[in-house]
Amino acid sequence: MSNHRNFVLFAFSLIFIFTTACAQNTSESDTVDKNSSEYKIYKKNQCISCHGTDLEGRMGPLSNLQQVGSRLEKEEIRSILLQGKEETHMPGYEGIIEEENIEILSDWLSEME
Ligand code: HEC
Repeated sequence: MSNHRNFVLFAFSLIFIFTTACAQNTSESDTVDKNSSEYKIYKKNQCISCHGTDLEGRMGPLSNLQQVGSRLEKEEIRSILLQGKEETHMPGYEGIIEEENIEILSDWLSEME
């Protein structure tokens, strides 16, 4: 009987160890890779000042870009980057950021889900 109880305890501690390890993994993959070439473009163009170092947003909920890919298509992001958003603080970058980098940023952000 006591063997059975030990086994149950052992099984529960395994489950506990696995779930905590998994929880740590997800939170790691949620943070932005700061060494990526995309992040460097994001940083270089000062998106950080309004969108934060982890895309968490510093200007209200819509400036949080961590899941922007689940609300906007790549093409929509691209046009926001070019034209900005009227009546908000989101500036347009047409003629300021090279077309190629706008493309890279839209691609990158549309994968944030
Ligand atoms: C001066 C501040 C500021 C800067 C600089 C800025 N943004 Fe924004 N951005 C905002 C704000 C505020 C919003 C939310 C607008 C709204 O309320 O709809 C926004 C919205 C966005 C959105 C759309 C989010 C959504 O769900 O509608 C994208 C994509 C975005 N910004 C990308 C960028 C990128 C990439 C850069 C750098 C090239 C950048 N922004 C620079 C302030 C800024």
